[in-house]
Amino acid sequence: MKKAFITGITGQDGAYLAKLLLEKGYEVHGGVRRSASQPRLSRLEQLGVNADVHLHDFDLSEPYSMFRLLDTLKPDELYNLAAQSFVGASWTTPIYTADIDAMGVVRILDALRTTSPETRFYQASTSEMFGLVQEVPQSETTSLYPRSPYGVAKVYGHFITKNYRESFGLHASSGILFNHESPLRGKEFVTRKITLGLAELAHGGTTPVQLGNMDAKRDWGFAGDYVEGMWRMLQQETADDYVLATHVTTTIRDFFTYAAEALGMDVEWEGEGKSETATDRKTGKLLMQVAPEFYRPAEVDLLIGDASKAREKLGWEPKVDIRQLAEMMAKSDYDNF
Ligand code: NAP
Ligand code: GDD
Repeated sequence: MKKAFITGITGQDGAYLAKLLLEKGYEVHGGVRRSASQPRLSRLEQLGVNADVHLHDFDLSEPYSMFRLLDTLKPDELYNLAAQSFVGASWTTPIYTADIDAMGVVRILDALRTTSPETRFYQASTSEMFGLVQEVPQSETTSLYPRSPYGVAKVYGHFITKNYRESFGLHASSGILFNHESPLRGKEFVTRKITLGLAELAHGGTTPVQLGNMDAKRDWGFAGDYVEGMWRMLQQETADDYVLATHVTTTIRDFFTYAAEALGMDVEWEGEGKSETATDRKTGKLLMQVAPEFYRPAEVDLLIGDASKAREKLGWEPKVDIRQLAEMMAKSDYDNF
């Protein structure tokens, strides 16, 4: 039985990956950090796998306990999914974000190099590294130009992974994953904020969803498809870097429309910029208004990924398209309201 260790197992991707690895017969271990409301296992519970995983106290800021844990576990595969993952918060917590999302990666790589150099390592890199995009679509060879403290920290994590592969021969791969969502998505991210807000409106609520930049475009896929790609990367004989994306880009506005339509609404858009609104033609209810506090100091306007390498070398394909994703999330929030 193979043994895997997942950092960030309580997050969206961690929960889907834990389920996938259990289905494949792995012994699954995960790192959870202490908090007053610990353990935060709701996502693992929602997928019905909370009782099947082995949990360990773990924090990416704490090198010595990490060292001891890895020395004991010596996992076959380690998936580093833990991060301060919210781009918006990285401007208010830039130093913390750098400590976890950049330094945390080298702490874990260095502990692995010493305690368990045969472990195969996955780093959660991100399309946010492309930022002010230098090429359309973006692939593994596109130059990086991050636009947030989060993106800058992730660039370090990406290159230190490559560096430990080249310097010490670790089997260390980076997945450059474009945005991926699900009913388990954190509530602060725009897709989930939209589907939760629309579910409340569909149940009789009257508070419109307050959003920022409606023109940004993202390449959105389903998290369940993306964790399969992570696993496939670590099954390759040689470690490498891969983009995972759908090659379809959608504005925030269009995602909102798809989610509203899935709940039977008929959206009418009016105005522009800070005056833009969305109303349901059927009921006259105001569904969305712009709130400038959700604009970011610097924006990533357009992400669209080219996952040809993953398709050819890993045989990986996304299965859920953007309309199916919006419907899945909207209906889940409506049903669980
Ligand atoms: P998520 O839902 O926000 O989960 C983040 C996880 O990291 C949580 O389990 C969190 O624990 C844990 N964590 C945060 N700080 C930690 C620390 N100091 N020590 C240990 N654990 C810590 O994120 P996600 O969407 O699953 O994303 C997984 C990874 O992929 C992240 O690294 C993210 O940056 C990256 N990524 C995500 C996407 C995407 O679209 N989802 C795209 C590209 C890359 P708590 O439960 O205690 O908060
Ligand atoms: N969160 C949020 N809230 N975003 C909004 C809002 C709002 O009210 N209104 C508009 N947006 C816009 C943001 O300005 C951004 O352009 C876009 O919606 C997506 O924002 P998020 O859903 O917060 O995701 P993200 O693209 O910044 O980051 C996610 O994807 C990255 C991969 O590209 C996160 O999962 C990162 O961890 C991940 O690396």
